[in-house]
Amino acid sequence: MNIVNTVKTVRTILLNPGPVNVSPRVREALGGPDLCHREPEFFDLQDGIRQRLLEAFRTPAGEYTPVLLTGSGTAMVEAVTASAVPDGGRLLVVQNGVYGERIARIARVHGIAHDVVECSPMERPSLDAIATRLAHTQYDALAIVHHETTTGLLNDLAPVAALCRRHRTRLLVDAVSALAGEAFDFATLAPDAVACTANKCVQGLPGLSFALVKREFMDAMRGYPERTLYLHLPRHHDEQEKRSTPFTPAVQVAYALRTALDELIDETVDGRVARYGRAAAIVREGVAALGLALLLPPALRSTTLTAIALPGEIGYAELHDALKRDGFVIYAGQGPLAATLFRVATMGDVREDDYRRFIHSLGVAIGRA
Ligand SMILES: Cc1ncc(COP(=O)(O)O)c(C=O)c1O
Repeated sequence: MNIVNTVKTVRTILLNPGPVNVSPRVREALGGPDLCHREPEFFDLQDGIRQRLLEAFRTPAGEYTPVLLTGSGTAMVEAVTASAVPDGGRLLVVQNGVYGERIARIARVHGIAHDVVECSPMERPSLDAIATRLAHTQYDALAIVHHETTTGLLNDLAPVAALCRRHRTRLLVDAVSALAGEAFDFATLAPDAVACTANKCVQGLPGLSFALVKREFMDAMRGYPERTLYLHLPRHHDEQEKRSTPFTPAVQVAYALRTALDELIDETVDGRVARYGRAAAIVREGVAALGLALLLPPALRSTTLTAIALPGEIGYAELHDALKRDGFVIYAGQGPLAATLFRVATMGDVREDDYRRFIHSLGVAIGRA
């Protein structure tokens, strides 16, 4: 007897903030033909992805240039940070969570002079504190996280972008857990560089990250010090512009990313943000009906992640395991928040009915169904 055929396959619903569930089409794309990365077929694939990135995110015509990188979101955040500051320059890092802190760590590792505006992870950064810093020190660049996945807090980029413009400071955005899942208008924010990954709201698979960079900024970066061999952004960009690549890329993951971008273009970013919004509403209303508290007030919440206080009667590990038995993977809180909350992402190829089933399972797991 073939045991495999007797077991009903249940699709595990990933409620962690990436890697996300992908569509069958994206997974099938992984099985594309074996390819040498120095043949024209790979460069067609690379060009196609870069073109689709500009189209999907509606960057102003001719102003932005895409860069691909084999590596997770952190690789691209590190590549942007390490490449964005001239010799003798200074970076201002806005920090209200784990990922802002990571940018400061990256600056430290690469010996980049920097200051940190640190705010509570439960609040948006203080605009006064940022304005004061920018007024008193000449910063070449400011780095900020769009969506702090630590808490599910969405930073408001518009006033920060306006301050950067006023002080002629480059704006670098870690949009790893936001882009394609939260509204982001390149034309009005005019960021200098935005880092993202394939396997969150873009709904591709892990292994590739990308950045959208102002063309004029990329030109400037060529004159900045090369602080790292592999992660020097202009190296990747310039090779990609010439239909080349400096190193071996994740070819099969690129097939999946191209298909994921086709799906994103079909759905549109607005459509996806709206879909994730409906999912978040189901989760938040369901959780409230079960009597559980959300970490953040509505005005601070992102669309893509909800942080929920753990109920007193069950610890995280027990809750996680009970839900996993039902086919749902939730995500622990980070650092000091680990003991008090859990996180539920609303990203990926997941149906509204799956979120309703999750709420039912959560109710059963905590004895409140
Ligand atoms: C805001 C943000 N930045 C950076 C990262 C790091 O991404 P990766 O784990 O792909 O390196 C994450 C991961 O969740 C994130 O949420």
